[in-house]
Amino acid sequence: MPANISFVQAAAIPLTALTALQALRDKANLKQGHHVMINGASGGVGSFAVQIAKTLGAHVTAVSSGRNRDFVGSLGADAFVNYEVEDITNGSTRYDVLFDAVNTFPWRKGKQVLRRNGTFVSVNPILALPPLRLVAWANGWRLRSLFVKPSGADLETMCRWIEEEHVQVAVEQHYSLAHAVEAHRRSETQRVRGKLVIVINEQLASSRASAG
Ligand SMILES: NC(=O)c1ccc[n+]([C@@H]2O[C@H](COP(=O)([O-])OP(=O)(O)OC[C@H]3O[C@@H](n4cnc5c(N)ncnc54)[C@H](OP(=O)(O)O)[C@@H]3O)[C@@H](O)[C@H]2O)c1
Repeated sequence: MPANISFVQAAAIPLTALTALQALRDKANLKQGHHVMINGASGGVGSFAVQIAKTLGAHVTAVSSGRNRDFVGSLGADAFVNYEVEDITNGSTRYDVLFDAVNTFPWRKGKQVLRRNGTFVSVNPILALPPLRLVAWANGWRLRSLFVKPSGADLETMCRWIEEEHVQVAVEQHYSLAHAVEAHRRSETQRVRGKLVIVINEQLASSRASAG
């Protein structure tokens, strides 16, 4: 657990941050100088993805609704696209990597957004199916998806980046177990900014809650 954050913030890290890390570093092979578009940049996975991509040295275009423009900017995004007013498949910019962190991008249109041999990576594990990957390959781009794997080494990496303040943990709100239904309802709106956390042990959580 990073020394500079609360238990509530720490609880928000494993699933979402490791999904973003494994998608960008391992599936997309994101490198310094690459241009990456992150669809769903304001969500749990997306907010980590923006910061991880910046830490890996990429130029980041964040896609979210207009209300989250400042939020994704505060995470370090270099450019912004508001999907409410712009069709992201119609833009003229071509990316090395497109990470769909919320599974809303029509993957078959990957070629319209990617450079030749660019990589589309999705949080939807179904897109790993060989026939779908073949369709993409035949059209000059790579289709990848992931099913996140638990990894102590990856948690160490995130811990270091958080302690070095390359990455911050965005928690929209935390709820007591008694209010878990409320948390689920909020999650189902698909409007959560960052992550929601349910606190099982209030006393433990508040022992380091000052940072979050
Ligand atoms: N494959 C795996 O191993 C794995 C692991 C973890 C999670 N997942 C999946 O990853 C996805 C994301 O999870 P999450 O917890 O990060 O989701 P989340 O936090 O609930 O996503 C909420 C965010 O989605 C954005 N959003 C909603 N509709 C959008 C659209 N049409 N275009 C762009 N952004 C949109 C919202 O931003 P606005 O309000 O600005 O629209 C909001 O900030 C889920 O489908 C989850 O099941 C997969």
